[in-house]
Amino acid sequence: MTQRFENSVALVTGAGSGIGQTCVRQFLNDGAIVVAADIDATASAPDDEVFKAARDNKRLHFIKCDVSNRLDCENCVNETVKLFGRLDILINSAGISQRNVRPEADFEETWDQVMAVNLKGSMLMSHAAVEKMKLNSPSSGAIVNISSIMGCVVYNESDKLSDGFNPYPHSKGAILQLTRDLAVHLAPDGIRVNSVCPGFVETQFTKGLQDNPELHRKLAARHPLGRFGTPDEIANVILFLASAQASFVTGANWSVDGGYLAQ
Ligand SMILES: NC(=O)c1ccc[n+]([C@@H]2O[C@H](COP(=O)([O-])OP(=O)(O)OC[C@H]3O[C@@H](n4cnc5c(N)ncnc54)[C@H](O)[C@@H]3O)[C@@H](O)[C@H]2O)c1
Repeated sequence: MTQRFENSVALVTGAGSGIGQTCVRQFLNDGAIVVAADIDATASAPDDEVFKAARDNKRLHFIKCDVSNRLDCENCVNETVKLFGRLDILINSAGISQRNVRPEADFEETWDQVMAVNLKGSMLMSHAAVEKMKLNSPSSGAIVNISSIMGCVVYNESDKLSDGFNPYPHSKGAILQLTRDLAVHLAPDGIRVNSVCPGFVETQFTKGLQDNPELHRKLAARHPLGRFGTPDEIANVILFLASAQASFVTGANWSVDGGYLAQ
């Protein structure tokens, strides 16, 4: 039976953990060749059967890449094409929050760093990827950006997660506009660009929140389904948007949030 992504080459950033790593696993299970990019070289090679078999069959390659660095992004895309001959799919999953910035940083440094990874990183990777996608014959490609419910609404005041200067929602809101702008301008080239807005998801990213039982309960209850999502539940939608089944979907933002934004 033909697999959904047979002969497709997918590049996933933030592939060392959480949603990105789960996308890699799902792509491999569905027949893709995958380049897994992450700033953290140690996090990117889980020792499970899917990853091991793919590495042995040369269907999985890891590249150390800081998405906030233009040269890293260009090298990453160039190496992908050099290795596998083409690039079909880009998943921009690398992301940080202010919790990942050094505690001594002031508000400006924190803002710059979060924007550099979340927004500029998605832009730089897309810029490098689009150049190669246009070389496909015919020109084609699919990009999926990861926004957040916090790109659409603000943190609930009582959760005390922002004082209005938290860069995370700013970066995720901007990703929605990056998605629309790229989608419209790349449609003539057969390149589709979409985004997803996950609710709170059980990954390393939210570990600090999950470790606080009271806050965890409160945040889970803000989702009508009453819980955090799993990385697989987010990756399912990301892979659908990247697939040919979504051939008439571009410039869209899909909520994957247990109903959070419906309230
Ligand atoms: N977990 C959630 O609740 C949630 C909710 C909404 C949106 N998101 C978004 O989903 C994406 C993935 O989040 P996650 O939960 O899987 O997080 P995660 O922390 O589990 O994984 C993020 C990965 O990105 C990598 N990374 C960080 N900075 C990088 C850089 N400069 N260059 C390359 N790689 C870098 C990290 O090393 C890590 O492997 C992020 O964009 C995040 O903002 C997460």
